[in-house]
Amino acid sequence: MVAGYRKSGDKTSGLYKGWKAFNNAPYQSGTHGGRYVNNYANAVAEVNYGKYEDVGKMPVGSVLAKDSFAVMGNGRTAAGPLFIMEKAFAGFSPETNNWKYSMVMPDGSVFGVTGGKGAKNVEFCHQCHVAVAEDQDALFFLPDEFRK
Ligand code: HEC
Repeated sequence: MVAGYRKSGDKTSGLYKGWKAFNNAPYQSGTHGGRYVNNYANAVAEVNYGKYEDVGKMPVGSVLAKDSFAVMGNGRTAAGPLFIMEKAFAGFSPETNNWKYSMVMPDGSVFGVTGGKGAKNVEFCHQCHVAVAEDQDALFFLPDEFRK
């Protein structure tokens, strides 16, 4: 999985496996294609992210990553995209709470990045995350039963 993501050249791809994981087991995410996902936060993000609904505002430099895989009918798994949210500097993209969304495909191609190549392809990310933009800095966290 990581080998594929890394081909993108995206720096999170090579780093996130070393970050703190917030889920106790992969869980199925209906909002990310029904795939099984894991949630990771980098060192800048981990304290605030761990406050969950009391998160307030995330610090600049926070990166949240979610890798994913699908379970096929025959029980085999197939890697899915890597979903990334990175808190950029104030003014980067006020309409997305300055979150830069990226989606890296399992083969290392990049589907889109806020403010970069394929930006249109990732507009739908914030269109959903915006539901909690005011109270939770656009973060949804994970279902209670999968929190560590
Ligand atoms: C239809 C709603 C929806 C869409 C579209 C969506 N997300 Fe999410 N996202 C969620 C929900 C709900 C969670 C938390 C629960 C989960 O993982 O299912 C989440 C969690 C995340 C997280 C972990 C941080 C957090 O919020 O706790 C990242 C990173 C993420 N999404 C990135 C993306 C990216 C990148 C895209 C677009 C390519 C995207 N999401 C599209 C609803 C959505």
